[in-house]
Amino acid sequence: MTWHLPSRCDKLRRCAPPPEQARVKRAAPRRRGLWAVLGAVAFAATACASHAPQDTLNAQGPESRYINHLFFPVGLIALAIGLFVGGMILYCVIRFRARSDDESPKQTHGSTPLEITWTIIPLLLMFGVASLSVVGIAHLYQTPKGQRITFVPASAGGPAVQGKVLDVHVIGHRWWWEFDYPGLGTMPDRLQNPGEPPNTALVTAGEMFIPAGTMVRLDVTSDEPLKSPEGVGPGVEHNFWVPVLAGKIYAIPGHVTHLNLEADDKAIVDGHPITYSGQCSEFCGISHANMRIKVVAESPNDFANWVALQRTKQRSLTTADSYLNPLAYAGYQLFNGSGTCATCHTIQGTNAKGQVGPNLTHLQARNWFAGDIFVLNDNNLRTWLRNPQAAKPGANMVIPKLTEDQITALIAYLDTLK
Ligand code: CUA
Repeated sequence: MTWHLPSRCDKLRRCAPPPEQARVKRAAPRRRGLWAVLGAVAFAATACASHAPQDTLNAQGPESRYINHLFFPVGLIALAIGLFVGGMILYCVIRFRARSDDESPKQTHGSTPLEITWTIIPLLLMFGVASLSVVGIAHLYQTPKGQRITFVPASAGGPAVQGKVLDVHVIGHRWWWEFDYPGLGTMPDRLQNPGEPPNTALVTAGEMFIPAGTMVRLDVTSDEPLKSPEGVGPGVEHNFWVPVLAGKIYAIPGHVTHLNLEADDKAIVDGHPITYSGQCSEFCGISHANMRIKVVAESPNDFANWVALQRTKQRSLTTADSYLNPLAYAGYQLFNGSGTCATCHTIQGTNAKGQVGPNLTHLQARNWFAGDIFVLNDNNLRTWLRNPQAAKPGANMVIPKLTEDQITALIAYLDTLK
């Protein structure tokens, strides 16, 4: 709408829009209504998505199923109340609408039986929902009982991992997740001091490997400082959420929170692992959406093999390697050059001991990288190494521009990290 001063034009009424224009203007509100309806239909249609890997209602483990058993009855009660109240409002608006200007409705001043009824019914409903919720919270967050899963060396005989409950330390970084397995490596407890370097660690990033049908106890924190660099409040919080397996849990700097999680073992068919998707669900900065999670549930045998592999170290390459695989050797030298990759990344068994970025010791045992925004393959590694900032804005990985030859060599070396 624009204001304009009265002018001769107004007086003469010569500036009225021509008839076609006027018609267009009248049609606009109707079209807006149509768009609103179309928008609502499109929004409702998203609920029918068949491939929705992060659908909370599609429970794939006992914890998420427990939450759904609470959600559905409460949701149905809420729906019934919503429909009843909405229906009553609609009925009253139509039934008791003013029929003429001088007609006023019959005045009443309260009804004791009615008021008691609509106080007691909601009270009982609220009490029921609250009781179920409190019992549910206590159930979901209890410390799981049972022997913790530990590694058993081959010399001791028996399976490589033994126990009933798997402990995993989950550390949220900007913007990726680190997973440490305290029972399966011999590292210091990084949860108490995330800055402390692991020595012979079972540390991975992005993907959390677990045995299916086994209770997993997560101890979750954020590596952010207690005081933000800007000095205002604590560092950034993250939130760990794999919707089909469990509820959400905050990753808070300086605190350790807990979450139980288990993937159904019946989902494992013919020993094939199943990958569940999740993501950080607390806004934590510019690449919050690039902080994803994959949980890979394997058969107990495959998990034991994974653990055995993860416990092995890589080795420093020597001049002999420069003859056998010159490209990988060039990449190794570049990786470990001063002020390059090794400053931030660890490759167990080599001089690369950086603690800023993900541990790359067994990079090739993973399927994803860079906060799980990329499938791990040479093409995607090239895209990433050309410009990490373009792929994940704000990432800590700030590197000088690499030549294509340098990138080729680095990829050749990273490909050896089986
Ligand atoms: Cu981390 Cu959002």
